[in-house]
Amino acid sequence: METTTNITPVLEIKDLHKNFGDHQVLKGFNLTLYPGENLVVMGKSGSGKSVMIKCLVGLMKASSGSIQIRDKDITALGQTELDFLRTEIGFLFQGSALYDSMTVRENLEFPLRRHRDKLRFRESTQNLIHEALENVGLLDAIDLMPAELSGGMKRRVALARALILKPSIMLYDEPTTGLDPITAKEIIQLMRSIQDTYGTSSLIITHDVDCARVISNRIILLVDGINYAEGTYAELSSSKDPKIKMFFK
Ligand SMILES: Nc1ncnc2c1ncn2[C@@H]1O[C@H](COP(=O)(O)OP(=O)(O)OP(=O)(O)O)[C@@H](O)[C@H]1O
Ligand SMILES: [Mg+2]
Repeated sequence: METTTNITPVLEIKDLHKNFGDHQVLKGFNLTLYPGENLVVMGKSGSGKSVMIKCLVGLMKASSGSIQIRDKDITALGQTELDFLRTEIGFLFQGSALYDSMTVRENLEFPLRRHRDKLRFRESTQNLIHEALENVGLLDAIDLMPAELSGGMKRRVALARALILKPSIMLYDEPTTGLDPITAKEIIQLMRSIQDTYGTSSLIITHDVDCARVISNRIILLVDGINYAEGTYAELSSSKDPKIKMFFK
């Protein structure tokens, strides 16, 4: 997609810094997500990808910098406003993060209950849960416990849970890591169909080159705390820069 600058971004990170004591993880990271786009962030393990996404949703406090979602500066929001904004954002956590003591149905009910008063949906809770599970092809698993699910099924349930509030922005932290190649492909297909169905704008963190190739409209490489390079898969994968080439081996 064209990344023309006169389109209003759905999300914008400017000069993000995050340190833990003396350890500087993010040193001026920038990112702009445009409507309907699949933007991939790649970076090696420990480079700060999860830290970045946690700052983005307010789970972690940035040391400095600005984070704008729609027209809101999230670093300036109170808890209530932040909660409301979160109903627009679906977050697939690294490693699925289902509640082990709850059934699939209860896992999906959780965000609905939490945001009930803010929801505009007229559909019943049960309809929403059914629709979300159907979207990921797992309606049959509705009464199972997470322990009874395979890794791929867990990821699908986590995806259904992230989607249940019909968010306009989806954040994926390593959606395919730990899955076999075939299951990973299925998850990628699901992510694409979600974008097609709901017109979602997505930020996808991955170190899966196949995932990046299939899903990205644009890629940012996070190296040494900054966006070292930015471009399409074709542009970056043909780069001669050794630091960039490393990602596409
Ligand atoms: N709560 C925390 N306290 C202290 N240091 C942290 C904390 N969270 C993350 N870090 C450090 O920040 C750095 C970046 O971590 P992060 O989880 O963002 O890496 P990542 O790029 O997501 O890696 P991976 O690909 O393995 O998921 C690491 O060095 C990590 O030790
Ligand atoms: Mg991570």
